[in-house]
Amino acid sequence: MSTRAEAFESWIRKSFVAMNTELEKLYFALEDRTQIMGRGDPVKRQLQEEGHAFVAALLAEGNTGDGFESAFGVLGNVGMYLAALRRHELTNPAREERSPFPEASSLALHVGASLGVAPRFATSHLATHNRARAGLRKSFTSLPDEFLFIDENTRGILALQLAADALTAIVHLGVSSPVADVMFAAAKRSLEDVIRFNDRLMERLDVERFFYCVRPYYKPYRVGRQEYRGANAGDFSGINELDLLLGLCRANDPYYAQLLVDKMLFMLPADQARLRECMTHKSLLDELLELSGEHTHTDWFQRNAGAYLEVCDLFGRYAAQHQNSLVKRFIEEPSARLGAQELQGITASGPPLPVLLRSLEVLRDMRIAANRRDITTRFEDLRRLRNTIAGHPGRIPDASRPPAAGR
Ligand code: HEM
Repeated sequence: MSTRAEAFESWIRKSFVAMNTELEKLYFALEDRTQIMGRGDPVKRQLQEEGHAFVAALLAEGNTGDGFESAFGVLGNVGMYLAALRRHELTNPAREERSPFPEASSLALHVGASLGVAPRFATSHLATHNRARAGLRKSFTSLPDEFLFIDENTRGILALQLAADALTAIVHLGVSSPVADVMFAAAKRSLEDVIRFNDRLMERLDVERFFYCVRPYYKPYRVGRQEYRGANAGDFSGINELDLLLGLCRANDPYYAQLLVDKMLFMLPADQARLRECMTHKSLLDELLELSGEHTHTDWFQRNAGAYLEVCDLFGRYAAQHQNSLVKRFIEEPSARLGAQELQGITASGPPLPVLLRSLEVLRDMRIAANRRDITTRFEDLRRLRNTIAGHPGRIPDASRPPAAGR
């Protein structure tokens, strides 16, 4: 890492965190926590000016870093700086046609283009590629709720990646292989871990702190002329590898294909390559359905199709938990308490909240293979497969619906 890149990194890890934390404390004490304009102006100015000096020096250096890690680190830092300026309303894409921070934009565009990723900070900067120094990882603030959010998100992402790795191994072994059992078991363990981490978030994350002090750093902002959507925990390939390998979503489904195209540049180049490769494989569900007629009564079919269905059920539980618990508790419910004006700019992706929620519901329902007529799901195919397995409990209850009273 160049001296200038290291100086910027140190500032992001110390003074930047201190200033954001000070501002968050100020805002959180306000009667209306959404009215942050004109509050803490000297600190906001200091944050902007100090960050600018590092950015201008790096831009003049014209060095996008010494290798991938360093350049990706610079992109994350300039991105976190811009995301903080957005959070403190020093920029707002709704009232501007271009970013008021041309140097930071140029630096981000230069590095992003050189790496083949979106020119903004992405989830991986704070999750899988957030390198701890003496136990301390990067963050916007030093608030315990932000650390909790970052850590549990990262654990969840790592576990989903492990599950995807395990299923990828089965593609190469063939779904009828006797040794697929260890990989199905590994995928199951990882998905159980994700569900456990998400349960912990549900229990421990403070709704108000998350909503008012953590999530605002994930809003969209402009880089140069273009507005880029915010980072979200889904910006890694593993989740889509699971969708595709389990066969619950298909890359030729126009809705899902559009989603993949839209998120490509928000992923690391290595993840982009993994996802492209994954799209060339036949799904485990399609393989099993092809084998089912002739081989249903063999031991291997019963064992492996049964294990596949257990993985599918766990993945469905994760998808339902994300939507029905996390999104509901930490986004939907607190948003419902706000007026239309205050709601503007609440989501990280940019679209109005009801639109975002509907699109997340579509994803959930594909993942739980819900019985929906308006979108394509694998409901019928999974039912067919479940019926071939002796002793399988049948379809899991529709996780998108709340349990009936008395159940
Ligand atoms: C407080 C916890 C969480 C909340 C409130 C939350 C909320 C959201 C929202 C609202 C989106 C839509 C995108 C956006 O607004 O920009 C999203 C996307 C996503 N989140 Fe979360 N999330 C949380 C934690 C997690 C965790 C821990 C994981 C992974 C283990 C995760 C995985 C995903 C994925 C994969 C997507 C992309 C859409 C998809 O493919 O499902 N989220 N999340």
